[in-house]
Amino acid sequence: MSVLPVEENAAFAVKDGRIAWIGTSAKAASVQAKEKLDAYQKVVSPGLVDPHTHLVFGGSRENELALKQKGVPYLKILANGGGILSTVAATRQSTEKELVERASFHLERMVTHGVTTIEAKSGYGLDRETELKQLRVTKTIADKYPISIVSTFLGPHAIPPTYKANPDFFLAGMIGLLDVIKKDNLAEFVDIFCETGVFTIEQSREFLQKAKEKGFGLKIHADEIDSLGGAELATSLGAVSADHLVAVSENGIKNLAERDTIAVLLPGTTFYLGKDQYAPARKMINEGVAIALATDFNPGSCVTENLQLIMSLAALKLKMTTEEIWNAVTVNAAYAIGRGTEAGTLDLGKWADFVIWDIPNYQYLPYHFGVNHAASVYSKGIKLWE
Ligand code: NIG
Ligand code: FE
Repeated sequence: MSVLPVEENAAFAVKDGRIAWIGTSAKAASVQAKEKLDAYQKVVSPGLVDPHTHLVFGGSRENELALKQKGVPYLKILANGGGILSTVAATRQSTEKELVERASFHLERMVTHGVTTIEAKSGYGLDRETELKQLRVTKTIADKYPISIVSTFLGPHAIPPTYKANPDFFLAGMIGLLDVIKKDNLAEFVDIFCETGVFTIEQSREFLQKAKEKGFGLKIHADEIDSLGGAELATSLGAVSADHLVAVSENGIKNLAERDTIAVLLPGTTFYLGKDQYAPARKMINEGVAIALATDFNPGSCVTENLQLIMSLAALKLKMTTEEIWNAVTVNAAYAIGRGTEAGTLDLGKWADFVIWDIPNYQYLPYHFGVNHAASVYSKGIKLWE
């Protein structure tokens, strides 16, 4: 976490979308190239990786801001049929085309902030038709842009009111979708919201275990509000990541430190939910847990596409060092979505995903917060934004 490789006066060359040569600025003068970019007095980093987003959804929930101000808890809004369930209603009503347009808008905003690889979850359908619609939209978006989009099926994101008395029946329906999702290659990972009043540890284990048997990678919304043992479950099943972890137990931290499961922390969500208790990042890092950071971009609990803002929150609220933060939004974030060998560092053979930052040094970014420091953004060697 703490070692960030930084080179001064460095250069690299791109061929067929990948990094084909690495050397010094002086040596770059003799490299034959169609185009040369000068980043004099700027910082160049790997493209940022956002490993936890809810990119595709209909509607918006600005009405919940007033409820939050009155102190109505997030899970109470959900229990009353609002929250995730209100986005579900709007997503069911949206056409595929509308969802593609909306998601493209948000994705482009992510890219302008330096992001070149993202994970995108379903979970605002909660029925066969709409979950598949969301996953198809993600696929359409992935084909439309050169950036890498990793798709996750989050069918068990909430319990629809009609299934309230029988959540197991709902879960069985979501498990029943796994084969078609696999057959049509609509998602690489699955995820579940394991939380009080949503899905229990037992239900989460059942769902994740079934998905694992069918060849999916595993993720979990774990120990966000209550300490249910989501981190322990994630490590015992070999999940690629456990996400949120604000209320992670001592034992959960120990398990995460011992295993390969990456802890994806989402300080923007804690901030946006107006809470004072953040995930115990320092303790986790001290005990040897690998941490990644993400926006958790979604219409309810964290409405921002700006991963740079999350970097500042990680510095101020999680007390992470600047080196840890850069690692958490690049290499660790890539590993948290199974892209560690393709993205997240500027290494030979990897995708030429990079950002030229208008900042004097890498420490500057989390320090100067709330604005966009990206000067230009390249994905697979293609300029996406300037
Ligand atoms: O990661 N915690 C559950 N799911 C999302 C929130 C989704 C929503 O409120 O729409 C999250 O915070
Ligand atoms: Fe989330």
